[in-house]
Amino acid sequence: MSYQCPLCHQPLHHTQQHWRCTNNHQFDCAKEGYVNLMPVQHKRSKQPGDSAEMMQARRVFLDAGYYQPLQQRVAELLDEALPAEEATLLDIGCGEGYYTAALAQQLRQRRALAAYGLDVAKIAVRYAAKRYPMVSFCVASSHRLPFADASFDAVLRIYAPCKAEELARVVKPGGIVMTVSPGPRHLYQLKQQVYQDVQLHAENDEQLAGFSCEITESLAYPMILPGAQAANLLQMTPFAWRASPQLQKELAETEAFTCETDFVIRWHRRSY
Ligand SMILES: C[S@@+](CC[C@H](N)C(=O)[O-])C[C@H]1O[C@@H](n2cnc3c(N)ncnc32)[C@H](O)[C@@H]1O
Ligand SMILES: [Zn+2]
Repeated sequence: MSYQCPLCHQPLHHTQQHWRCTNNHQFDCAKEGYVNLMPVQHKRSKQPGDSAEMMQARRVFLDAGYYQPLQQRVAELLDEALPAEEATLLDIGCGEGYYTAALAQQLRQRRALAAYGLDVAKIAVRYAAKRYPMVSFCVASSHRLPFADASFDAVLRIYAPCKAEELARVVKPGGIVMTVSPGPRHLYQLKQQVYQDVQLHAENDEQLAGFSCEITESLAYPMILPGAQAANLLQMTPFAWRASPQLQKELAETEAFTCETDFVIRWHRRSY
């Protein structure tokens, strides 16, 4: 399995410090080991995706283990879903690589696994590649996946945008897409700090064209966060844009902030 040229869709071949196609389109390998497959003409903004501040806050928060139960459950489900001997996995919107790397490590205990992580934010991919050399990371958008048709046994999507046609194209027939999205009460207490009138997340019955949803389960538990981690949690979500500097300061000074998590995990199987 290899990358596909984002310009002409030919396979890319690795030569020293580059990836190159037969039409001589060339993409540099960064010193951290990732490849940037996002041509400028495909960029919608100068720095697409999460900002450096969001990514750094997320890394400190995830490193402390608050979302470890989610990582563990996703690993168990993928272990069941993936072929027993050899498998290929792609994490779209992988951010700074927390889930991708942990999954690669756990799933390799039972099989040979090629693990790929993709994100549109270059800074996140740079951090991911630097820390986790056991995963192949690239900068690209989940709207144009730089991989050939039927490349993956599974694609993981944790809170990231996607395009159903692209998922259906790169997942093998019978393969799966596992998605994690916020359930109704996800981060309820954090939202209470930011909004006057908190709306519960609408429960939408997510369908992906070309797939059938076989399993839906929720995972919910409370977290008790020291102020600094509550501030990181705020910073890594879009709620931060609505929070005043005063609120951010107050949250950081809280002794213990209790907040609910509520994740919905879905497993969609690609039709044959
Ligand atoms: C909420 S974060 C989740 C990151 C990671 N999956 C996690 O849970 O820690 C969403 C990620 O999607 C990325 N993203 C946003 N738009 C994207 C796109 N079109 N293609 C790929 N990634 C995208 C962001 O840069 C960000 O890292
Ligand atoms: Zn090309």
